[in-house]
Amino acid sequence: MNRRKLVVGNWKMNGMRAHLDEVEAIGRVAAAHPDVEVGLCLPATLIMAGSERRGAAFIGAQNCHMDISGAYTGSLSADMLAEAGATWVITGHSERREARGETNADIAAKSVAAHKAGINVILCVGETLAVRDAGRAEQVVADQLLASLPEGAAADWLAVAYEPIWAIGTGRIPTMEAVATMHAALRKALASRIGAEADKMRILYGGSMNGDNAADLMALADVDGGLVGGASLSAAKFAPIIEAAD
Ligand code: G3H
Repeated sequence: MNRRKLVVGNWKMNGMRAHLDEVEAIGRVAAAHPDVEVGLCLPATLIMAGSERRGAAFIGAQNCHMDISGAYTGSLSADMLAEAGATWVITGHSERREARGETNADIAAKSVAAHKAGINVILCVGETLAVRDAGRAEQVVADQLLASLPEGAAADWLAVAYEPIWAIGTGRIPTMEAVATMHAALRKALASRIGAEADKMRILYGGSMNGDNAADLMALADVDGGLVGGASLSAAKFAPIIEAAD
């Protein structure tokens, strides 16, 4: 199955207006690699301005509420994010599952809300080091994926990101064999729920991806791109990852 590579930067709580020059530069790199789908999930404050300078990259958000509107102080609905210019949103990032207590059911509901607003979804899953050391990583992550996968999930609006929690921002990554095994296990789990659609669905790797390891990671059969944190904050560091996907 020929799946178009998807490379997405997650800026997390980083970025001021001064950094919009980097958005523009990354948009130019994206334009030079039309076979790769490239995007940046920006802090909400930059989505509108970033959308005006995105070039060939898409702009996404990092979270959305599961309801369309209401008394939810400080929250943003998927409709609001779409109006601001977001065409993708991350759901289920471990930094929200862990610190904000988001459940699998919350994440499924947020993903449905995003889809209804016309926004594509990157659904994140991943294991702790304790789970990996216990030899339970594939089972735990596959269970987490099936529990947070929204009803009607399809490859034209949802991608999965496997992010081992212990690899995020640490400079450590699993062995290539471990990544390959996990991605194959996740595709099998997807197939058990959505059948042949699983072959079309992109499964990204995230966690300390950089210009040195991206080519090896993305050469693995079931790795269809990356969700990149630190190395997406500048065009200089992000460009080699985009190039590796091409
Ligand atoms: O969403 C991105 C991931 O959490 C990876 O972050 O590339 O800084 O390890 P990182």
